[in-house]
Amino acid sequence: MCGIVAYIGSREAYPILIKGLRRLEYRGYDSAGVALLNKGNLSVYKKEGKVAVLEDFAKNHDIAGNIGIGHTRWATHGVPCDRNAHPHLSNSHRLAIIHNGIIENYASLKAELETRGYVFESDTDTEVLLNLIEDIQKEEKRTIEEAVRVALNEVVGAYAIVVIDKNEPDKIIAARKGSPLVIGIGQNEFFVASDASPIIEYTNNVVYLNDEEFAVLNRNGQLDIKTLGNLEKTPYIQKLEMDLEKIEKGGYEHFMLKEIYEQPQVILDCMRGRMNAEQGWIKLGGVNEYATRINNAKRIIITACGTSWHSGLIGEYLIEELARVPVEVEYASEFRYRNPIVTQNDVVLAISQSGETADTLSAIQIAKERQALIYGICNVIGSSIAREAHAGSYTHAGPEIGVASTKAFTVQVTILTLMALQLAQSKGTISQSRLRTILYEMEQVPEKVKQTLKLDVKIKEIAAKYFEAKNFLYLGRGLAFPIALEGALKLKEISYIHAEGYPAAEMKHGPIALIDENMPVVFIATNKSAHEKIVSNIQEVKARKGKVIAIILEGDETIKGLADDYIEVPDTDELLSPLVAIVPLQLLSYHIALMRGCNVDQPRNLAKSVTVE
Ligand code: M6R
Repeated sequence: MCGIVAYIGSREAYPILIKGLRRLEYRGYDSAGVALLNKGNLSVYKKEGKVAVLEDFAKNHDIAGNIGIGHTRWATHGVPCDRNAHPHLSNSHRLAIIHNGIIENYASLKAELETRGYVFESDTDTEVLLNLIEDIQKEEKRTIEEAVRVALNEVVGAYAIVVIDKNEPDKIIAARKGSPLVIGIGQNEFFVASDASPIIEYTNNVVYLNDEEFAVLNRNGQLDIKTLGNLEKTPYIQKLEMDLEKIEKGGYEHFMLKEIYEQPQVILDCMRGRMNAEQGWIKLGGVNEYATRINNAKRIIITACGTSWHSGLIGEYLIEELARVPVEVEYASEFRYRNPIVTQNDVVLAISQSGETADTLSAIQIAKERQALIYGICNVIGSSIAREAHAGSYTHAGPEIGVASTKAFTVQVTILTLMALQLAQSKGTISQSRLRTILYEMEQVPEKVKQTLKLDVKIKEIAAKYFEAKNFLYLGRGLAFPIALEGALKLKEISYIHAEGYPAAEMKHGPIALIDENMPVVFIATNKSAHEKIVSNIQEVKARKGKVIAIILEGDETIKGLADDYIEVPDTDELLSPLVAIVPLQLLSYHIALMRGCNVDQPRNLAKSVTVE
């Protein structure tokens, strides 16, 4: 939610900021802006809309300067418009700020500042924070870093901020609490960003600020980090392991398409070194580290949001089926607010691509306070959830830039499958021969996903038949039910078609009323154990003139004879079927969205990582 980027050094800041903003645009694209400090002048350019609009505007202005901050916004306080775009200036126009997060007590702070004569140009909480900093700086005669520190002690909420001061032009101040922030360290220069993508081509030495820490980045190359309580911290410099190529589109028209096509490789990468079918073992480092607690857990609670919650549902099926441990799957946003019963006998799995989702982070903080073991399944290395967890497994899918999650989902399911198997093996709830069979099948999954991707032309033809539909229903049973939910989410978020995922058997309890000749119903019929039942559900839809699009296993003549359209995917072990079945649904939503003229990588109103409640 909002991307921030900043630079101080001897290079021109503007090109670095703009390039960085383009990379961070997945985090929000309601408006974009930069502030540049040059020879005592502070210039701010900001525009509603995407980074390209800002670039177009800025090209006719003076963009010189070796210090700069930039922002791409996902609106929270105030509609998207130039006025509410960041950076914001303080009343005296001496300070400028960029902010990702929410200042919850902004209303009371604003009221107080107004009584002291402060005037606000925007509707944002950020402008309030900046004027609070200015007020402290003026009234208490403090340096900019001290004023930032004192102000942040007064605010409630989440933030990653960067502040520059026209009167102290040799430093920038960055701070974080609850929103991500990375500092890149170059030769007498520093970069700051919401993630490492704007930094990677300049340096791979980075420092991740911790919550309630702030950094002073000096032009002479000195980096000072302190806590908000004013304790000095020694910067912990880490090496970035990120590949520049991986954050480019690599010849694909969209990031989403590239990421769908990367799935065979990332599933393979995710399994690599973690299992061996021949020898019949699975080894998730995090599980080994806490083997006793995990093996003895009375219950596993999975908490996540959106697509990650859907993979959690698959995890529930797999863990209960294979390891016979009770599992509950909770929306993190509900879990955190309902005083959940969690004990030291529970293991809480937090699943998150970004590792920054605010609700999931809060949910695990609550569970941690109640002594549960927290296990993170994250994609972004060094992310907040990964760091907050006691143990975990990275999914190693590389950066996912498309707002609609695709490859992150399949690798989450891969980890959950391995985890269920490892647990089953430790608890003795699976025979060694069954375990080997599943592991052999897992090794085949990347190839089967590759074969499924070859169906793209047919999927595009099907998309062309249905792209004007107003509603879609997605139905599945057992392991195919979460796939129905995920297929529906993919369609609605990028094509803006209303789509519902439902357990196929539940259709007769309500949604069947929606079915007529205009309703496409996507059946996920890839689990053999539910075949007869799903055939009956298809008949029920056909009897009401609904249009059936079926995802079937190769050679399923029964459903071929019934469906209006079908997509045949390769057979695999039923427990692994979600990994293959989701692929045609990702492609179907991609093509439908394109045919409707939608921006598939940056759908309206959404942002890649939701760092607000
Ligand atoms: O980064 P996370 O996995 O925690 O994100 C959770 C959801 O915000 C995310 O999956 C969202 O639903 C995606 N846009 C779905 O494609």
